[in-house]
Amino acid sequence: MAQIKDAMVPYMTRDEIQDLVKKLAREIEADYQGLDVVLICPLKGSVPFAADLMRTLRIAAQIDFVQLSNVPSDRGEYAGVEIVKDIGTSITGKHVLIVEEIIDAGRTLSFLKNRILASGPASLKVITLLDKPSRRVINIKPDYVGKTIEDRYVVGYGLDDDGLGRNYPDIYYLKH
Ligand code: IMP
Ligand code: MG
Repeated sequence: MAQIKDAMVPYMTRDEIQDLVKKLAREIEADYQGLDVVLICPLKGSVPFAADLMRTLRIAAQIDFVQLSNVPSDRGEYAGVEIVKDIGTSITGKHVLIVEEIIDAGRTLSFLKNRILASGPASLKVITLLDKPSRRVINIKPDYVGKTIEDRYVVGYGLDDDGLGRNYPDIYYLKH
């Protein structure tokens, strides 16, 4: 496959990813049996993981997408998060599960959690394929984690490098 960078090092194969998806799906099924579940998937990075997870889950669940964007300040630093596309499904009284591909600083997730809590869900939990806790600036913890990874920039399976690489079926890390 043509690569976005020469310095792409194989990190997780599609088979390893699918094993994590299955492990997570079995955990969710055990906890959400018989409940009204809504999976909220932030665009664009969560798309491959959300698609695999929803097809692996053996429980009834509604799906919706939300798109958030980091707003840079005039000096290019982090200035806040804004909603590009809001949730369209009613989540009041439902059991909401945020489906993330990776959690880094935690700002996006913290913002999204507050947005969802404002709609009065019955419960709110977070599932993420990958977690980088060493990068956290906000004290926030996912409830279900596929794999905890070190501070590495990863691409593929929804994860991008400046918009590219999301379509790769495997995950790579970028050597600097
Ligand atoms: P944060 O937790 O608010 O810092 O933002 C998390 C978002 O940053 C994720 O949903 C990704 O879109 C992006 N991100 C964080 N780390 C990586 C990475 O290693 N590769 C690709 N995207 C990343
Ligand atoms: Mg994301």
